[in-house]
Amino acid sequence: MAEQLQRPLVAGVCLFMCLLAGGLCIPDPRYRESLIQEEASMQTGGQVVLNEKEKRLDTRLLKMKQDEVARADFPPAMHFFKARDLIRNSPMFSLLQKMPKGGALHVHDLAMVDIEWLVKNVTYRPLCYMCFTNTQSIRFIFSSQWPEPLPNCSPWNLLETLRAKVVNTTDLDNRIRGKLTLFTDLDPEKVYPNQDVVWDRFEQAFMSMWGLVTYAPVFREYFYQGLTEFYKDNVMYLEVRALLPEIYELDGRTHDKAWTLKTYQDVTRQFTAEHPDFFGTRIILTVHRGANSSVVTEAVEEAMKLQRDFPDIMAGFDLVGREDVGRPLWYFRDALSLPTERGVELPFFFHAGETDLQGTDVDQNLLDALLFNTSRIGHGYALVRHPVAKELSRKKGVALEVCPISNQVMKLVTDLRNHPAAALMSENHPLVISSDDPAMFGASGLSYDFYEAFVGFGGLRSHLGSLKALAINSIRYSSLNASQQEKALTLWQRRWDKFVSENAF
Ligand SMILES: *[C@@H]1O[C@H](CO)[C@@H](O)[C@H](O)[C@H]1NC(C)=O
Ligand SMILES: *[C@@H]1O[C@H](CO)[C@@H](O)[C@H](O)[C@H]1NC(C)=O
Ligand SMILES: *[C@@H]1O[C@H](CO)[C@@H](O)[C@H](O)[C@H]1NC(C)=O
Ligand SMILES: *[C@@H]1O[C@H](CO)[C@@H](O)[C@H](O)[C@H]1NC(C)=O
Ligand SMILES: *[C@@H]1O[C@H](CO)[C@@H](O)[C@H](O)[C@H]1NC(C)=O
Ligand SMILES: [Zn+2]
Repeated sequence: MAEQLQRPLVAGVCLFMCLLAGGLCIPDPRYRESLIQEEASMQTGGQVVLNEKEKRLDTRLLKMKQDEVARADFPPAMHFFKARDLIRNSPMFSLLQKMPKGGALHVHDLAMVDIEWLVKNVTYRPLCYMCFTNTQSIRFIFSSQWPEPLPNCSPWNLLETLRAKVVNTTDLDNRIRGKLTLFTDLDPEKVYPNQDVVWDRFEQAFMSMWGLVTYAPVFREYFYQGLTEFYKDNVMYLEVRALLPEIYELDGRTHDKAWTLKTYQDVTRQFTAEHPDFFGTRIILTVHRGANSSVVTEAVEEAMKLQRDFPDIMAGFDLVGREDVGRPLWYFRDALSLPTERGVELPFFFHAGETDLQGTDVDQNLLDALLFNTSRIGHGYALVRHPVAKELSRKKGVALEVCPISNQVMKLVTDLRNHPAAALMSENHPLVISSDDPAMFGASGLSYDFYEAFVGFGGLRSHLGSLKALAINSIRYSSLNASQQEKALTLWQRRWDKFVSENAF
């Protein structure tokens, strides 16, 4: 960089040389142009050289982006719940959907599938019971016998019977849907006035869907359906943060974590056999950060065992849940040191810096994640406020998994043009784009988040090279080993060339 800055000097053009024109002193336009070029080349994808076809596609993209920027209701500046239909109907979005985006590296197990499928398919299956909690939420269970009552919940209703009784089943389905997702047609700013409210509703929604998706037959189909949705959105690989919850059968029998992990592996194998241009899935075992250290120690032990027994599908370990109210990573330092202490390989993929509380214990999670040699950082929203952590992340090539819509819905940022990742993208900080919990936000796959990143973060300056770099990043920063990465890149490149050929005109 320093070298480039000096280039004008070397070329004999003085830094602050003025062109004297009619008594005015104007900075040298050639020098000005060289600085503009230098800055443009520093961004994500700034060094990517486009071929002729790609250049034609890039020209189309720029025109589309100019149309987006010119609208009075600029989607990245609006709440996603209000912007979703505008985005969905834009030509830019259709193109991004078709684009092979590589992998989605930050997605959670229970928020991958459109809620519509849970409501219209799963709750219509036989022997599905529902109760209403004291906190205006709902719970479900499938059972061959009348289930035991839950504390703080109404008596169970067999949904089949309930639907036969109510006058308007559409109305009932709408109410169920509303409990399973944060998405709403009402004014999101009024429904979710602050982070406490939105996080509370978020966790309630997870608890509501719990009994639906942890029922063994649904669990398999849910994951298959999730892979289908990402595949249709032209995502070829997934790294799923998974709690590996206890899965139950109709008669109440339950399965352990190894069974659940093996189910993920079986479903992935089946899906990949049926869709050869899908590359696969790997699992990051997660535990809630509200847990105490003995629970987390046990989870780390279990993760080490699973990593040994299922090396192909297990990618590593992470802690989930709201950072601001959970325990900081440093609190779990003994548990997190176990793998190194025992010389056992257990990669970490910590959520860190999903906070705007500067200076708290939790705000140190970014630095601690790096000190524990995390492979990537989930979110890293606070990174720009930590220059030392930022430098370490760049030097060690620890990529951020940036999830724009999630950060907006969970109320860290309002206008996505002001998201810190906009600045990070302008200097090619290692990062990937992901969607976190698309079903919770009324989104699906990756394309909505790519839209926000490309149009909102990138503005008019990011281009096809930026998109290409983001897709390649998602393979380079994945947990796949070197030879798998090469294979995945070859597969991706083939799809990319086809995409460019079909859309460059
Ligand atoms: C529910 O989804 C499964 C799996 O995708 C499918 O086989 C089944 O036909 C669906 N049932 C209904 C009622 O839509
Ligand atoms: C049922 O409820 C839905 C949603 O509240 C409403 O749009 C629809 O008109 C109602 N149908 C009948 C037959 O009342
Ligand atoms: C940790 O949490 C578990 C589960 O909630 C509980 O059973 C256990 O007693 C707790 N241990 C300590 C030391 O607090
Ligand atoms: C990479 O991973 C694949 C699949 O897990 C494995 O078969 C292969 O041996 C690994 N290669 C290296 C070089 O580790
Ligand atoms: C992190 O990696 C460094 C360098 O490989 C190593 O010295 C250190 O022990 C590791 N730290 C932990 C907590 O695993
Ligand atoms: Zn997450």
